[in-house]
Amino acid sequence: MSGKPPLPVPSAVRLVLIAAASRNRVLASHGQIPWHLPRDVAHFRSLTAGRWLLLGRTTYEQMNGWFQPGQVPVVMTRLADDFTVPGGWAVPDLPSALKLAASHGVGALMVCGGGQVYAAALSWADEIILTTVETEVTGETLFPELPADQWCVVDQQFFPADAANTWPMTITRWVRDGSPAGQGR
Ligand SMILES: NC(=O)c1ccc[n+]([C@@H]2O[C@H](COP(=O)([O-])OP(=O)(O)OC[C@H]3O[C@@H](n4cnc5c(N)ncnc54)[C@H](OP(=O)(O)O)[C@@H]3O)[C@@H](O)[C@H]2O)c1
Repeated sequence: MSGKPPLPVPSAVRLVLIAAASRNRVLASHGQIPWHLPRDVAHFRSLTAGRWLLLGRTTYEQMNGWFQPGQVPVVMTRLADDFTVPGGWAVPDLPSALKLAASHGVGALMVCGGGQVYAAALSWADEIILTTVETEVTGETLFPELPADQWCVVDQQFFPADAANTWPMTITRWVRDGSPAGQGR
């Protein structure tokens, strides 16, 4: 099966996952990102500039001070009623995030992690932009496994290590089988 299951709410908002993981799918080790790749940071900043970003509460708290004008953080937390997000929103679940984005005419919600939120969003994702850091590391937070029969690669670029970037990396863009390839606004 290649389609996504129906969402509990109808939504035209495109769900795009953006992540960086090692070859063995590690996203973080001891709560930190275990590599130093300014090239990937620049890639992440460029893809998320001016966008609505869906974040788990843990990742949002770690990214305190990182958000730029024009970015709208939407934070998933089970305590959404008591959680304040300056310049953004707190939501209790994914359907609420999609409903909120749709009500503001947002074309795409960029899912920026962490592990729990990627796992919650994957079934309904339309697109994945994944940086594979070409090494294996140990860590407790993992990117979910992609069901191979549901995703096709539409773009892939390899970048060697250099003086500033300690590991080689590959950026792969997948779209769900049968889904249009563009990112909505
Ligand atoms: N390598 C990468 O690309 C990347 C990207 C982002 C983050 N990270 C790393 O990932 C780690 C954090 O990931 P994580 O998995 O521990 O936490 P997370 O996904 O960032 O946040 C977890 C929190 O989000 C809320 N949440 C999660 N699923 C939910 C659901 N289905 N419904 C409602 N709320 C939900 C809960 O908040 P409440 O407890 O408030 O209810 C939960 O405690 C950090 O170490 C960070 O550095 C790596």
